Amino acid sequence: MKNTRILFEEYNDKIITAIEATYFIKDKMTVGTSGFTKAGDSKAVLPAFAKQAKYKNIGITLITGASLGHTTDTDLAANGALYRRMPFQADPVLRSKINNGEIMFIDQHLSETVELLNNKHLPKLDLAIIEASAIDENGNIIPTTSIGNSANFAKLADKIIIEINTSVPLDFKGIHDIFIPSPYPNRTIIPITKPNERAGIEYIEVDPKKVIGIVYTKLPDSPAAVTTCDEKTTAIANHLIRFFEKEVQQGKLTNSLMPLQAGIGKVANAVLSGFKKSNFKNLTMYSEVLQDSTFELIDAGVMNFASASSLTVSKKWYEQLYNNFDKYKNKIMLRPQNISNAPEVIRRLGVIAINTAIEFDIYGNVNSTHIGGNKMMNGIGGSGDFARNAYLSIFVTQSASKDENSISHVVPMVSHTDHTEHDVDILVTDQGLADLRGLAPRERAKVIIDNCVHPDYKEAMNSYFERACERGGHTPILQEEAFSWHIQYKKDGTMKQCCTAEIV
Ligand code: COA
Repeated sequence: MKNTRILFEEYNDKIITAIEATYFIKDKMTVGTSGFTKAGDSKAVLPAFAKQAKYKNIGITLITGASLGHTTDTDLAANGALYRRMPFQADPVLRSKINNGEIMFIDQHLSETVELLNNKHLPKLDLAIIEASAIDENGNIIPTTSIGNSANFAKLADKIIIEINTSVPLDFKGIHDIFIPSPYPNRTIIPITKPNERAGIEYIEVDPKKVIGIVYTKLPDSPAAVTTCDEKTTAIANHLIRFFEKEVQQGKLTNSLMPLQAGIGKVANAVLSGFKKSNFKNLTMYSEVLQDSTFELIDAGVMNFASASSLTVSKKWYEQLYNNFDKYKNKIMLRPQNISNAPEVIRRLGVIAINTAIEFDIYGNVNSTHIGGNKMMNGIGGSGDFARNAYLSIFVTQSASKDENSISHVVPMVSHTDHTEHDVDILVTDQGLADLRGLAPRERAKVIIDNCVHPDYKEAMNSYFERACERGGHTPILQEEAFSWHIQYKKDGTMKQCCTAEIV
């Protein structure tokens, strides 16, 4: 019977098991693998290597697209298989090893990793492990549900192992757009002027001489968690929808807005779902992840086209997509993450970027990564790629959370800064929306306190700001008190009744 997954005959005698493939992974190697927000990751070789590391003294530097699925990052971390990890993760076990200093985590803008590799600012890749839905007649890879950094890993690595995943439909061929920018000093433009514009080819180019093994797997991607809208996320979504409606009324935007980017998670999901019931039409996305809400908007006839680097949906949506792929095939495109997140393209298209903050401060600085200033959560991901270059840079978060609203997500000063006030246009909480465009720091503080702070914290925040203003300055601050809310939370488990006298 003809092998429909491998059309390049020379590869047939390279088929090996996942365990055999792990023998190619040596201690201290730098390994680049496919995988972006759980989609298209290595599901055979990397998990097998993680298991072996439990019994061997072996570890690697692992570079991926973004987070991995199943328990791969958990197992790698728990079994001591990682010396260094970049550029993003979202795994509780790996997170705790990063935070206790056992694993060195390099938190990078997702568009930048391949730049650093290309420019030799990072060690050379010894090995790439890349998931494929099929291999074409010339030995090239037809990818699966993500591109991430895979195309560049295939180009830069000394050796390549390909994992063929038979759970992914063969008709995925055609949704990928692989464009690799030319090297410096002769770099040319990325030829994308619309979200649906194709810049490159449909496959990842591979030098067959570098391929040392082909492994079969049939394990599907681990699905995204189903997120439902609650009172707070719905309130945030409504504030944003009203803001967009006003922009349209004022002639600043049309009913199609501009291409949207939305971070992953419940708030972004609620915001996108909000568009279903709105008057917006012919929406497009130029984002990094396609989620359930993207396909719901396509089904509702509200969204025309969505471009990203991965497709990460819930179980229900995987089934729906795989069974009706023809319906969606011409409406989506997956690209390398240095293209989906390219500053040049984001600025050219005028993307509206909506990302989630852990906290923001009264001047509009945003913390996306560190809890309490020192503990890594996930990483900056693509939020910085989009925020700095967007037509409108929006950050959303709840005004307060936990029992009795013990955490205020608006603070006098962020405990870690990922996005500076210069990169942030609009802030939204369940309380309201602060439009910071054209405002100076003292004006920004007023708008943020009035519109975004939870009522339980308003008086304390006004008091802080007034006393800071008395001291003066362009950006008034009380240095000795700026982190007092965080200190109070560490001490008492609540930011409430924050009393300067007790803390200082
Ligand atoms: N102080 C203390 N803990 C806080 C906190 C704060 N200010 N803010 C959040 N947390 C805790 C939450 O309580 C929760 O802990 P729990 O799981 O024990 O309940 C955890 O951090 C996650 O918070 P949650 O509100 O569930 O966040 P989320 O799932 O909406 O994710 C980010 C928010 C910021 C962590 C997430 O969006 C992220 O990683 N962003 C950076 C990457 C990014 O923006 N990529 C963009 C494109 S996808």
